[in-house]
Amino acid sequence: MKPTIAAATLFLLAALAAACASTASRAPQPRPSFTEAQKAELAEGVFKLLKERCAECHQAGAPKIYAKIDYILDHDKLVKSRWVKLDEPEYSGLYTECEDGSMPLKLNAEGKPKIKDPLPKAQVNMLLQWLQAGAPAWKGQ
Ligand code: HEC
Repeated sequence: MKPTIAAATLFLLAALAAACASTASRAPQPRPSFTEAQKAELAEGVFKLLKERCAECHQAGAPKIYAKIDYILDHDKLVKSRWVKLDEPEYSGLYTECEDGSMPLKLNAEGKPKIKDPLPKAQVNMLLQWLQAGAPAWKGQ
């Protein structure tokens, strides 16, 4: 009888630990709050960033370098896409690709998008904050 109980207890503990570990890794980060003025500033800042560093390859009419995202300056489309996760901002592809340095790229001498050209940390943070603020719309053109 005893060994079975011990084994069962061990099993339960292991299951519990696994459950805790898996929730811990996806635990929502504490959400900062933003004033309306901060949201507006983030929106315009992100628009400028996307326009300067991403649109070359990711907007409609860009040379057919990468067709999956060809709407990066279209706020509505971008926010509804799988690259933006408002319930888990820190897992949004738009942010993680920049955070790990995979994006943005730049063109090499043959015009191929092969060179990594990472954003400064402050701009990566701005992207995350914008997502945490609920990805407010920009007015920018
Ligand atoms: C010089 C061209 C170029 C620029 C500039 C560029 N990208 Fe990309 N992007 C690509 C290419 C090519 C791919 C697909 C190949 C890949 O995933 O490496 C891609 C893929 C992506 C993906 C999808 C990744 C996936 O998992 O499929 C995201 C998100 C992305 N880019 C975001 C950005 C953001 C944000 C910027 C600006 C900060 C940016 N990109 C700038 C060329 C570019």
